[in-house]
Amino acid sequence: FFSLAKKPRNPNHRSIQKQDLEYFQSILSESEIITSDLSKYNVDWMSKYHGDSKLVLLPNSTQKISQILSYCNTNMLPVVPQSGNTGLVGGSVPHYDEIILSLQRLNKIIDYDTNNDIVTTESGVILENLNQYLSQFNTEAPYDLGAKGSCFVGGNIATHAGGKYLVKHGPLRGYVLGLEVVLANGQIMNLLNKSRKDNTGIDLKQIFIGSEGSLGIITKANLLCVKKAIEKNLLFIKTSSFQNILQIHNIAKSEIGKNLAAIEWMDSYAYKAVMENIKTAKDVFDSQNKIDQSYYVLIEINTNFNKDLVVEQFYNSLSQVEGLVSECVLAQNDHQFDELWKIRELVGSACGHIGKVFKYDISLNTAQMDDITKDLRQKCIDLGFTVGYGHIGDGNLHINISCLDKTKEQQLENQIEPYIFEWLSKKGGSISAEHGLGLMKADYLHLQKKPEVIDCMKNIKKIFDPNLILNPYKILPGI
Ligand code: FAD
Ligand code: MLT
Ligand code: ZN
Repeated sequence: FFSLAKKPRNPNHRSIQKQDLEYFQSILSESEIITSDLSKYNVDWMSKYHGDSKLVLLPNSTQKISQILSYCNTNMLPVVPQSGNTGLVGGSVPHYDEIILSLQRLNKIIDYDTNNDIVTTESGVILENLNQYLSQFNTEAPYDLGAKGSCFVGGNIATHAGGKYLVKHGPLRGYVLGLEVVLANGQIMNLLNKSRKDNTGIDLKQIFIGSEGSLGIITKANLLCVKKAIEKNLLFIKTSSFQNILQIHNIAKSEIGKNLAAIEWMDSYAYKAVMENIKTAKDVFDSQNKIDQSYYVLIEINTNFNKDLVVEQFYNSLSQVEGLVSECVLAQNDHQFDELWKIRELVGSACGHIGKVFKYDISLNTAQMDDITKDLRQKCIDLGFTVGYGHIGDGNLHINISCLDKTKEQQLENQIEPYIFEWLSKKGGSISAEHGLGLMKADYLHLQKKPEVIDCMKNIKKIFDPNLILNPYKILPGI
């Protein structure tokens, strides 16, 4: 299973021809069709996955998407839905020459229900723009992630994005109240809904959340928003062992309770990667880019009142344990708050500066996070620079391995895969905590799910997309 290698092409699928283009020209305006200079659509955020599409369609309405899919389905033309193209598993770019269906023109926010804090939006709205709009109501989306300036709401729903505030709000799934989806045959499924509670039969919208473009195109959403926190406090702690991070996490849970908004960690390799590769990053601990036994943890505490009490009480509890905190910084203003968060959010980008990144995004028992990171580092010590970090509050570890030698990318991949996935399969956890399967992990699904479960998934796929035109080669093995 080499994710960098090509899978066999589906022989039933066609490539676009002159008459196909003529059809699209008959239903779309000139600005909704791109046939040249497609490189940015054909390559993913990591420059790891490359497609060879000859056509990008950027329709500005659900109706047009419906017409496009109906035509593609009848004519066996495969399609890749693409939103912000920040996906990290090769799901958002074509494998061969599939048509790219970009959602970027579907970017209108439709309305906001002020009594119930529900926003109705088209799916191509950039997350940061949605939050800007929501700030007039003193609310925000119930999730946040480093890609906020580029990723779209529809892409977030299609991948069931996690991000840093899952500790506070829980998974996105619970906030998506309704969806409009266009199926592979062009049928528009109106699953829009503004009620928080709706127990009328099978909750069909759930099947599209996290389906990574394999079952339908998400065109609109009703999203339950959350009130903005009044006080956001951020502590950045340096400590001397991973064991200490586990202890800090436990104290945070019991002392901060519901005010704990986020808790994230990184090892000194990750910290160094950011300091060395991101010019604007400030080395708040004066680490001088040394790699040592230090670990770092960010804790965001949201309070509506008694700010000083909560933060001080927590800090006092930490101080009572000898050797738990080596150094601690508390953000003094919004600017510092953003600067400190950036150190964590830019780990992924920093690793990309070192070399092609092999990213592992796994769920596992928090106690094992540092061990598996060290184990992988050792396994590819000559070929890669390995960092460990992630959402410790959700039991979600990220391991990034940047390849140090361009000619040895395949060798590096072979050294770490399927080792890491088999390790997880034995110990329990998930091979994809938040980024999804995409092209990268479709063929490893059997390590995670029993054959009868995969069969059931394939049957569902065939109901929604019998010609397998939606995002082929991704998510499910052999499709
Ligand atoms: P794309 O990358 O364009 O697409 C992702 C997948 O969804 C593809 O398979 C695509 O075909 C499908 N898709 C896109 N739009 C639709 C649609 N409207 N209907 C149906 N299918 C669709 N992820 C996290 O979970 N947590 C994080 O903390 C996080 N941080 C990130 C930080 C950075 C810097 C980057 C680059 C990525 C990060 N990601 C994170 C991964 C990525 O941002 C998320 O997966 C995001 O939700 C993808 O959104 P997008 O709009 O870019 O979708
Ligand atoms: C993160 O938490 O930073 C992301 O999921 C993305 C990444 O690891 O690059
Ligand atoms: Zn993440």
